[in-house]
Amino acid sequence: MDRTFLMIKPEAVAAGHQGRIIDMLLANRFRIRRMKQFRFDAGTAGEFYGVHRGKPFFEALVAYITSGEVVGMELEKEEGVALLRELVGATDPASARPGTIRYMYGTSLQANAVHASDSRSSAEKELAIVFGRE
Ligand code: PPS
Repeated sequence: MDRTFLMIKPEAVAAGHQGRIIDMLLANRFRIRRMKQFRFDAGTAGEFYGVHRGKPFFEALVAYITSGEVVGMELEKEEGVALLRELVGATDPASARPGTIRYMYGTSLQANAVHASDSRSSAEKELAIVFGRE
């Protein structure tokens, strides 16, 4: 059973898409184990996106993700890491397949509605940053 992490990003929260995104997760049989709405501080956002430190978009990414509240959730499903990435769609909403969350709710490469962990190890790291170590 995989544990993975999904985050609804600030523009999707501000637009009120949370409910429709959560409905898609439940319809696809993801179990929500934990969920919280919060706002990142810059230090925690930098740690969360640490793999992108040094890339040209890093500062803008941190500024964007701290610009409003996000909703983070721990999800559980057999093969959930890969299946969630499929449901979320390509990073750039313009390339995302119809029916995916980013196709429906993403507006740009940065404002792409949601973040989903790309591996089991990044899921564990991201869950620990957002929910704390237990
Ligand atoms: S990369 O560059 O191949 O590592 O890209 P990826 O793993 O798909 O994730 C990139 C995350 O950074 C956000 N972002 C951007 N990516 C590329 N270019 C630009 N200009 C950019 N601006 C922001 C993108 O939304 C991805 O965020 P997450 O939360 O990981 O989906």
